[in-house]
Amino acid sequence: MTSQRIEELAPLPVQTHALRQAPVVDPDVAEFRPESHSMPSFFVWTLGCQMNQSDSEEMAGQLLAAGCGRATAMETADIIVINTCAVREHAEAKVIGRQGMLADLKKSRPGTRVVLTGCAVREAERAGLAKRFPAVDMFLRPDEEPELALRLGLVSAQAPIGLQTVATAATTVVAGRSVSAADRLAASRAAALAESRVARSSTISAWLPIVYGCDKTCTYCIVPFSRGPERSRPFDDILAEAREIAAAGFQELTLLGQNVNSYGHDLPAEARFGHIRTERSAGRRLDLVSRPDLAELLCAIDGIRDADGRPAISRLRFITSHPWDLSDRLIEAMASCDSVTEHLHLPIQSGDDAMLQRMGRQYTVAHYRERLERIRSAVPGIAVSTDVIVGFCGETEEQFQATLQALRDIRFDTVFAAAYSPRPGTPALRMADDVPADVKRRRLNELLSVQQGIGLELNRAWLGRDVDVLVERVTPQRRVNGAVDEDATDDDGESVGVPSLAGSAGEGSVALAGRTRHNKLVHLAGRPELVGRSVRVRVEFAGPFALRGRVVDGTAQTHASAAS
Ligand code: SAM
Ligand code: SF4
Ligand code: F3S
Repeated sequence: MTSQRIEELAPLPVQTHALRQAPVVDPDVAEFRPESHSMPSFFVWTLGCQMNQSDSEEMAGQLLAAGCGRATAMETADIIVINTCAVREHAEAKVIGRQGMLADLKKSRPGTRVVLTGCAVREAERAGLAKRFPAVDMFLRPDEEPELALRLGLVSAQAPIGLQTVATAATTVVAGRSVSAADRLAASRAAALAESRVARSSTISAWLPIVYGCDKTCTYCIVPFSRGPERSRPFDDILAEAREIAAAGFQELTLLGQNVNSYGHDLPAEARFGHIRTERSAGRRLDLVSRPDLAELLCAIDGIRDADGRPAISRLRFITSHPWDLSDRLIEAMASCDSVTEHLHLPIQSGDDAMLQRMGRQYTVAHYRERLERIRSAVPGIAVSTDVIVGFCGETEEQFQATLQALRDIRFDTVFAAAYSPRPGTPALRMADDVPADVKRRRLNELLSVQQGIGLELNRAWLGRDVDVLVERVTPQRRVNGAVDEDATDDDGESVGVPSLAGSAGEGSVALAGRTRHNKLVHLAGRPELVGRSVRVRVEFAGPFALRGRVVDGTAQTHASAAS
């Protein structure tokens, strides 16, 4: 271990927190002061994907269990945890750009500690981290996050065993680089759950990580270097967590993994899974016999029923799937499980085979389309979203046009597109990043405009139909020069063009937003009490990114049987 690592392990000096202790009124009773007053407050800033959001829930849970309180803003927190994303340079730049502000904050509030976690903390580049993020006091890789409270010196000898344990995180080697090893994450998740140390950020929708890391070799992608090889959680642990989530009344559960549908291949074969004999139709051959898979998990979670025999969790989702691992068994499970929603996120990345090969995706456009056709016939009307990268190394105009054609042919409901951003240490660095920035930008805009038309057409097909909307939140209406901004960009970054909804459904009604089972964003008006409920909504307006509707039944069932 280097001296830098030892410094990171050093606990915070006790005076750090004493600086901001609440004033003691009576010195005779000072020792009986509630502990929370002497514990630091924390703020977690989460960037990136759902896995990061889930990881942040675990880190917040640790700090709460250690006795810390939540600060409402970064500016008032004693401990600032930044859970970073590194998928594109821009994601890391966002955090680098805040270093000045953080340094000022530390000057004005001495004792503030900044911890940087997540995918920007990569073992191979550890030596350069302090230079890139000068305001940061401690760096934790994603697989080191379970040690957050301990490394901050916040865990007492009386703390539950799980919190006290620190085994310096192991590393492994991928493509000659030292990377995280997610080996201990399944056990630390189990300990966190056993000790109620997962502070879920919603009471409606729950994240449930099932497989950590990524075994794929997409040449552009940093994730295998930041998160390490795949490690699946034990089947029974996942099922136990799903049961807890059901008992706690959550209506939606999303299973998480960088490749959620490769779940289980690294677990031991067991007789009880003897009926599983999946053949992979693309990519590297794997022995999948008698090992649990995502299909088995979906069916088991769907089998958790309420007293009326309906799925106890009405909406079951999973993200992100890889075309290699989209087995027939998974498609059958999606079709047969009531609670599995009618939506699939399946990244295509490019509509050209040579580009896919250069990207290391190892499937062809034909394979992708064959999988999609199969799903569409098994689950009619299923909504499909995808990811696309434009301007990857060597992409010609024709190859880009092939991607546009794939979008026109396949007709995705939603496309998350980005220009290629070279990432340190990835295999693609050996290829020339030869598509000029202005060409990447032009291709991205062209693609987004083609997709906008497709999204609008697909959304218009919902006009006049009644859908179940799980109401997730009250939406703040932005005001522009005193008027409501009708082309506001909502929290999901989606321009919705929705006129003011507040008050439009009677006194006390506010603007609300939720999602259908097909994952369509729906804006509606209603009382704030509808948040967390599933309501029947008639769709009256369709934009390219969202729908708007009117509540026709505020007492809709929350179960799949009532779905459209
Ligand atoms: N595991 C998923 C899959 O199979 O594609 C995706 C996870 S990745 C974190 C999310 C998306 O980021 C990818 O689908 C890809 O489109 C995009 N992405 C990854 N690396 C990128 C890069 N270097 N430049 C631009 N976009 C990138
Ligand atoms: Fe990255 Fe590819 Fe793994 Fe997705 S499958 S996380 S794009 S390496
Ligand atoms: Fe970003 Fe890491 Fe997720 S790179 S997208 S936070 S896995």
